[in-house]
Amino acid sequence: MKQKKLIVGNWKMNPQTGAVAGKIFDGIKKGIVTFKNTDVAMCPPVIFIPELSKKLSAATILGVQNVSASKEGAFTGEISIGMLAQFKVKYVILGHSERREMGETDFMISKKVESALNAKLSVILCVGEKERDEECTYLEMLRLQIENSLLNIPKGLLSKLVIAYEPVWAIGEKATGRIDPAGLLEIVIFIRKVLSGIYDQETAHSLKILYGGSVDEKNSEGFMKEGGVAGLLVGRASLNPKKFIEIVKIAENL
Ligand code: 13P
Repeated sequence: MKQKKLIVGNWKMNPQTGAVAGKIFDGIKKGIVTFKNTDVAMCPPVIFIPELSKKLSAATILGVQNVSASKEGAFTGEISIGMLAQFKVKYVILGHSERREMGETDFMISKKVESALNAKLSVILCVGEKERDEECTYLEMLRLQIENSLLNIPKGLLSKLVIAYEPVWAIGEKATGRIDPAGLLEIVIFIRKVLSGIYDQETAHSLKILYGGSVDEKNSEGFMKEGGVAGLLVGRASLNPKKFIEIVKIAENL
């Protein structure tokens, strides 16, 4: 089954001003106007969401990088799903390794996934090992991460779930390695096997899987063509409209 491609930009804690955020958004928006086969979501820092939501077009989707599992109340510093809904936010990235590094556990993530899916927000659930070992124990770690992050998530809620495989060792400036499309395909098959164990084969195959980690306009075609993924979660290159548009264009033409 051919799945509609999804390209997501994770802006992380960038840029530093609303003016620059607006410029990046406008640049991308202009460059993807004619694309029809690819969903394009941009996930800026939440403070820029109100202004950027005024710029939304048919081809652009807004997402955020985190959300509270709770509806309202005494949760200092948190943002609720309801607050985001009024600004037409459609996606939330959950379980990113950079948030896990700050102390988010699988249990906390599973609560957020549950709340978001219940509120009809689409979830991009990030999973990925910190490092690889010859004995392949990282696969067991990956399996546990997927199982625990989806704890108590019934099959009926999965239509808005996307899994993003992001090996920590391949992310960002500090990356120590790169995965190739063949290696990615092995992991995608493994993730589907784990999902099939939690749910069933049909469900496992219907879920969209993305790849993230040093994605750019040069390597993205290989990941989507031979790596078995239906899209990409892009970090650094998503802040550069020219590069990001090129990645979307590649997805669009596959
Ligand atoms: P980079 O593309 O900058 O490696 O970041 C990947 C990522 O973490 C996206 O969520």
